[in-house]
Amino acid sequence: MDDVYLQSLAELKKERNALILAHIYQNSEVQEIADHVGDSLALSRLAAEAPEDVIVLCGVHFMAESAAILAPEKTVLLPAADAGCPLAEMATPEMVREWRRKYPRAAVVAYINSSAAVKAESDICCTSANAVQVLRSLPDEEVIFLPDQNLGAYAASQVPEKTVHLWPGHCPVHHQLEAGEVLAAKKLAPGSDVEVLAHPECRPEVLAHADFVGSTTRIIEEVGRSKARHFVILTEKGVLYELKKRYPEKHFSFPARDLLCPDMKKISLQQIVTALREMKPVISVAEPVRSRARRALERMLSL
Ligand code: 13P
Ligand code: SF4
Repeated sequence: MDDVYLQSLAELKKERNALILAHIYQNSEVQEIADHVGDSLALSRLAAEAPEDVIVLCGVHFMAESAAILAPEKTVLLPAADAGCPLAEMATPEMVREWRRKYPRAAVVAYINSSAAVKAESDICCTSANAVQVLRSLPDEEVIFLPDQNLGAYAASQVPEKTVHLWPGHCPVHHQLEAGEVLAAKKLAPGSDVEVLAHPECRPEVLAHADFVGSTTRIIEEVGRSKARHFVILTEKGVLYELKKRYPEKHFSFPARDLLCPDMKKISLQQIVTALREMKPVISVAEPVRSRARRALERMLSL
């Protein structure tokens, strides 16, 4: 890594009193310099609790927005302004209002992969780490789950007492994976003690072949708990950096089709330095959307 960038980064971080948070799907050069690397749930908790004045959110737009909603007194920077999430764009506030009219008795659960405006229309948020817990916590028997149909279907399967109306959204990265590709990857994995670990944004027929389903952080923790030595990992390949670092003695395989999120790969070390130097692009959420979205996020965080 370029020492000049590292030097500038260290100086700027100190000068700005900044904290660098990175999602597990980020480029390894970004994960290497981050103060914390985590899943969506961990990043929102850290953003809410951080004492620093500036948060550099190395992830996608909805993650920076969540930080801005939870920590309005801080400056939130997203080093690549165009790093979005196609899944989050599959729901709009108008559509949520329409679904509420269609299912008036249903509570609305918004996956954190949604815009601030959509969160503001929702009763509670969830992440892939706590979707089941969130569903169970609701007093309502009927729920609208948006925007990810696969995570919604998985959570609903774990809480069968609820009627869950699934939004027809999907993550283009995880949804493309097919069951046959999982079987092929499992066959190619060395050894007989192979465990398949999947992110719940994969299709139900893919999850049917998984030994464990969980968020990126939960997948990483499961490798540590498991006695198996070989793992087939069904999520974005950025997790490999942390997996190799934590478990050098274990072996990781991925499906032949690389699951790579182009938006997650938009941030480079150079862009982080530039963002801190120029103090932009800043992500903020205006009132009254911020307060309404905050209610839904805080209801989740309080569980
Ligand atoms: P996590 O909630 O597991 O961090 O996943 C976020 C995401 O964007 C998955 O595609
Ligand atoms: Fe969005 Fe999918 Fe990329 Fe996650 S992996 S940020 S859900 S497009």
